[in-house]
Amino acid sequence: MAVLSTEPTTQRQLTLRYHELATPDQLSAPERQVWDAARAATAHSYAPYSHFHVGAALLLADGSLVQGTNQENAAYPSGLCAERTALFGLAGSRPSPPPLIVGMSVAGRPAAGDFSPALPCGACRQVMLEYEMRQGQPIWLLLPSLSGTVLRFERLADLLPFHFSPGDLPPRA
Ligand code: THU
Repeated sequence: MAVLSTEPTTQRQLTLRYHELATPDQLSAPERQVWDAARAATAHSYAPYSHFHVGAALLLADGSLVQGTNQENAAYPSGLCAERTALFGLAGSRPSPPPLIVGMSVAGRPAAGDFSPALPCGACRQVMLEYEMRQGQPIWLLLPSLSGTVLRFERLADLLPFHFSPGDLPPRA
């Protein structure tokens, strides 16, 4: 039984833009700073259930760094990812609007083991994108790949096409 309509369709394709650097040694000094800060942050993760320690680091326009880590909970869904603890921690503790974020990075590793790819989950991408839209300035993102290269996205919007946005909400009464 055919489930999909056999009516003619228009097939479209999306291009996902990112850069690949052969090794972290090719990063600029500020990029390297945020890359290292994300890795260092994994030391502060609270992950007694998954044993996967995730760190996130934000580079602010004033050159300062903000770190976040995954915080788990015995009631599993109550835990939160590293990216969101970093972003909510920053935005929730400063006068509104929060300081400008220029770049960020994420790192993950098993409790006993070397760093491995840790790509932001869908919920984190949604939250990350909201902060980028809110500040109206792109935020670059550095992620580790499976093969040891560095993936660099020039803006968070490139990470989440077809996202939910404020425009999808009904107008306020
Ligand atoms: N985790 C993050 O911190 N960030 C992500 O984007 C994906 C997953 C955490 C959540 C949980 O504590 C652990 O990794 C295993 O899923």
